[in-house]
Amino acid sequence: MKIAVSGKGGVGKTTLCAGLLLALASENKKVIGIDADPDSNLAATLEFSAPGKITPVSEMKELIEERAGEKGGFFKLNPKVDDIPDKYCVEQKGIKLLVMGSIKKAGTGCYCPENSLLKALMTHLIIGREETLIMDMEAGVEHLGRGTSGSVDALIIVVEPGLRSIETALRIKKLAGDLKIKKIFAVANKIQSSADKDSIEKNIGKIDILGFIEYNKKLVDKISNDKIGMFKTLIRNIENKI
Ligand SMILES: Nc1ncnc2c1ncn2[C@@H]1O[C@H](COP(=O)(O)OP(=O)(O)OP(=O)(O)O)[C@@H](O)[C@H]1O
Ligand SMILES: [Mg+2]
Repeated sequence: MKIAVSGKGGVGKTTLCAGLLLALASENKKVIGIDADPDSNLAATLEFSAPGKITPVSEMKELIEERAGEKGGFFKLNPKVDDIPDKYCVEQKGIKLLVMGSIKKAGTGCYCPENSLLKALMTHLIIGREETLIMDMEAGVEHLGRGTSGSVDALIIVVEPGLRSIETALRIKKLAGDLKIKKIFAVANKIQSSADKDSIEKNIGKIDILGFIEYNKKLVDKISNDKIGMFKTLIRNIENKI
């Protein structure tokens, strides 16, 4: 199962990814988290030790040069990447985590080695590996057309009360449809009342809502064992629907 998580800035994408990863690991599932947000903080949210010391793949200059560097005036467009996830991920709490770093903007005709390596790596992660993958994406929609997010099994769009994140969700849904992403779900986060719930249900259109997460400061301070159940339920819902 390969799942990407998207949504407007600050809605709770990273919190959801961390919860899903912790829930999967607690069931002894093999999991890999991909932090694909250039402004990455999934390691910190997972309470990994020394999150600031993790080097994103995009900054591994020697590796990039070795695998995708220029040779005789050409960049390698399909560099070897299959050994990278295991070699360069960090592993704690039974969770593998790979921090991608920033991909340079597409559409500029840039075939620089970083992009070539990151694209090949992303494709490999989504189609070439066995374990469950949870990908934390950067906010917004612009980047969705880039890379290979179209191959994931499901895209979860996180929304929160208020129309802005729902408008973003609807834009993401349209783009995801264009990318032929198979399943699109929403998770409604930061719910404080039944009015919040009703308003999201009313405005989200045809996006299938996987679940509602209450607004709870304690949830994000520490995703403790009693909170993991909620994320396990979300995983069961996804499994039943894809
Ligand atoms: N259910 C919740 N209850 C209370 N606070 C929450 C909840 N979910 C997330 N938060 C808080 O909201 C803020 C944003 O959450 P998070 O970082 O997960 O969002 P994000 O969508 O990944 O943001 P970004 O777009 O910056 O990557 C954080 O301070 C987080 O602790
Ligand atoms: Mg985030």
